[in-house]
Amino acid sequence: MTISNPIYDLILGNNLEIMATLPDNYVDFILTDPPYLVNYIDRTQRSIANDINADWLMPTFSELYRVLKPNSMMVSFYGWTKVDLFFAAWKAAGFRVVGHIVYPKRYASSAGFLAYQHESAFLLAKGQPEKPSKPLSDVGIWQYSGNKLHPTQKPLSALTPLIQSFTPENGLVLDPFAGSGSTCEAAKLCGRQYIGIEIDQQYFGLAKARLDGISASIHNKLAISA
Ligand SMILES: C[S@@+](CC[C@H](N)C(=O)[O-])C[C@H]1O[C@@H](n2cnc3c(N)ncnc32)[C@H](O)[C@@H]1O
Repeated sequence: MTISNPIYDLILGNNLEIMATLPDNYVDFILTDPPYLVNYIDRTQRSIANDINADWLMPTFSELYRVLKPNSMMVSFYGWTKVDLFFAAWKAAGFRVVGHIVYPKRYASSAGFLAYQHESAFLLAKGQPEKPSKPLSDVGIWQYSGNKLHPTQKPLSALTPLIQSFTPENGLVLDPFAGSGSTCEAAKLCGRQYIGIEIDQQYFGLAKARLDGISASIHNKLAISA
């Protein structure tokens, strides 16, 4: 892979089928936000595919481990109610759990026994990655994305520091649960390549339009500064 042939691929399909076409040890960093297994439906009735059954957990994380380069990282958001299932899948795949990131929110996403007011993600290693010279805090800053394109749209400001910290310059970032393309946009803004995979035609279409827009805007800025 070279800079003159960068990979900017958003693919419509089932991530297990698409990943089966990728070579071993191929991507530099995985940043993903899988279904939380909570059957989430937002106020406008938008839902998330595979948010009920957990059948995909083990095979998907095993495939992610295979395509990730040795001595590299994955960050996965997760649903805390099913943390046991996520942990079991990550460990069975071969990942080592090396960090946990918490994002306090100013608002509660839901309320029950507590007002649920934080997002969280685990940092997982394949092999023995080098430690960054300036490690990120494990308490991140959360800005509400507005969820305009997707019911669980992640803010770019939470994603870009992770990409900068864990992906080499011009490296390749994979998000197999791309949704509205937030990871892909963040990768592009950080000067990294990306592969995003999304199964839902509607979210795929919104992500594609979003990424085409960012490409056009970067192209225009480059043209102006040339
Ligand atoms: C939690 S959302 C990701 C939202 C994304 N982080 C964003 O900012 O827009 C998970 C996404 O994974 C997709 N998905 C679920 N199962 C999938 C599969 N097997 N292959 C590809 N995408 C899948 C869903 O359609 C959903 O859009």
